[in-house]
Amino acid sequence: MTKSEKYAHFIEEFRLLIEGETDTTAILANTAAALREAFGFFWVGFYVVRPNDEGLDELVLGPFQGSVACYRIRKGRGVCGSAWERAESIVVPDVEEFPGHIACSSLSRSEIVVPAFDEAGTVRGVLDIDSDELCAFDEADREGLEQVCATLARIWN
Ligand code: SME
Repeated sequence: MTKSEKYAHFIEEFRLLIEGETDTTAILANTAAALREAFGFFWVGFYVVRPNDEGLDELVLGPFQGSVACYRIRKGRGVCGSAWERAESIVVPDVEEFPGHIACSSLSRSEIVVPAFDEAGTVRGVLDIDSDELCAFDEADREGLEQVCATLARIWN
């Protein structure tokens, strides 16, 4: 099975998995678990847009699978904050080559971050996936994971 076929199959099952549920945290938690189970990712999870104590929106650590990670990321910072600011996916073949990359784990070598939009087209969080191998993510991952995030558009309330 090609990676694209694997994603197509995943999306079918994933739609059923989240059908009928409306709680954002619960759905994000099962999304991270399902992605980890299907693809064996090293770290997979969400950062969600939330106002901090000063009322400034930041990315805050949400449901994930993997080792402990940093809590907060400002807009434009790291891969996650850059994907949020640009409102587009970023594939990083080698994290050491990405200026400002935030290293939550020294084992992380490559990364993909996909923005999660609500139905109005606002970025409400990002899906972040790390690998302990270089060049682990490609266009098939970007397309598949963008579809996962598109499927989540209804859950942001
Ligand atoms: N590497 C990310 C930070 C989050 S961790 O990878 C879980 C970044 O540069 O934004």
